[in-house]
Amino acid sequence: MPSPTLLSRPIHHTGYGLMGLTWTPTPPEIPIAIAAMKAAVDNGANFWNGGIIYGSPTYNSLHLLRAYFDKYPGDAAKIIVRRPSSRKKSTPLSILGGTKSIDIYETARVDPTLPIETVMSTLTPLKKSGKIGGIGLSECSAATINRAAKVGQIDVVEVEASLWSTEIFTNGVAAACAQHGIIVAAYSPLGKGFLTGKVVAPSEFEEGDHRKHMPRFQPGVKGLAERKGVQPSQLALAWVRAQGRKGDNPVMVPIPGSTSVERIRENLAAVELTDGEVEELDALVKEHTITGGRYPEQFAKLCFGDSVTLEEWNKKG
Ligand SMILES: NC(=O)c1ccc[n+]([C@@H]2O[C@H](COP(=O)([O-])OP(=O)(O)OC[C@H]3O[C@@H](n4cnc5c(N)ncnc54)[C@H](OP(=O)(O)O)[C@@H]3O)[C@@H](O)[C@H]2O)c1
Repeated sequence: MPSPTLLSRPIHHTGYGLMGLTWTPTPPEIPIAIAAMKAAVDNGANFWNGGIIYGSPTYNSLHLLRAYFDKYPGDAAKIIVRRPSSRKKSTPLSILGGTKSIDIYETARVDPTLPIETVMSTLTPLKKSGKIGGIGLSECSAATINRAAKVGQIDVVEVEASLWSTEIFTNGVAAACAQHGIIVAAYSPLGKGFLTGKVVAPSEFEEGDHRKHMPRFQPGVKGLAERKGVQPSQLALAWVRAQGRKGDNPVMVPIPGSTSVERIRENLAAVELTDGEVEELDALVKEHTITGGRYPEQFAKLCFGDSVTLEEWNKKG
């Protein structure tokens, strides 16, 4: 498949998610995290996904990025970093100490109290003046994407997409992205580890790990993986990418996370599925009933969100 293009630059078929390097009960030591990030670069991943919300105010993705680019300043130009703001907090760029500029600025979730038109008309001039490289939205509805696209170009929409999170292909989000030429950054493409064949039940996660309360179970992808001679994780990622080959879908770039050099290498390898294999996995998805939502109820409310309309906003005064 040809390389996806983001901000007019070719990017690898698969990106890299930084969340697990800082936002777990027991984050890896900084040298281990940096070795993982280096492995991502060395294996081609030049689209990274991090955020101030991934960790604590004193240790999150930005701190780690700073440590990484202090050590490998030459890599700053190679990598596109997408950095979500939290809905409530702005991103204190001083943490980066000038080691890296903002490539893609993303609103993490949709603020239901702020019209998306206002968000876009604030960010678009910043993009035009070069203060930010691009604009990202996250977990938004198709209607919000369509409204936002009338104001300015959205570069990326970040949403969960995997063999067991297929909602975007039926709720209009993927179609809206395709229509407006937006890349989908598919987060949790390995089902947060459940689709790798190595985790069987939420009870296996340590206390304090948010996945302990994720209510789903793993469909079997092991059979096809064994026949193809690849890992189930590679199959799961290849399936996400392959959705982008289908007529109405946008370019799909999965952003798996891993703390292990070996697994990062595995995830970034070029494994492609034939159309027949995609159909086989599609059938597997159809025949499994996925039980439980993607998030516990209080967080699910913020997914596929709609912002208030300008009309409603004006009425409120
Ligand atoms: N915007 C949002 O709301 C949101 C939410 C969640 C995630 N994200 C983004 O998406 C990225 C990835 O999502 P995620 O971490 O939730 O889930 P994921 O990438 O689907 O899965 C990560 C888990 O799978 C394990 N893993 C990775 N590669 C593996 C392999 N080849 N074999 C076996 N196990 C493997 C990792 O463990 P090891 O570390 O031990 O390898 C980790 O436990 C995050 O880093 C973050 O950037 C965004």
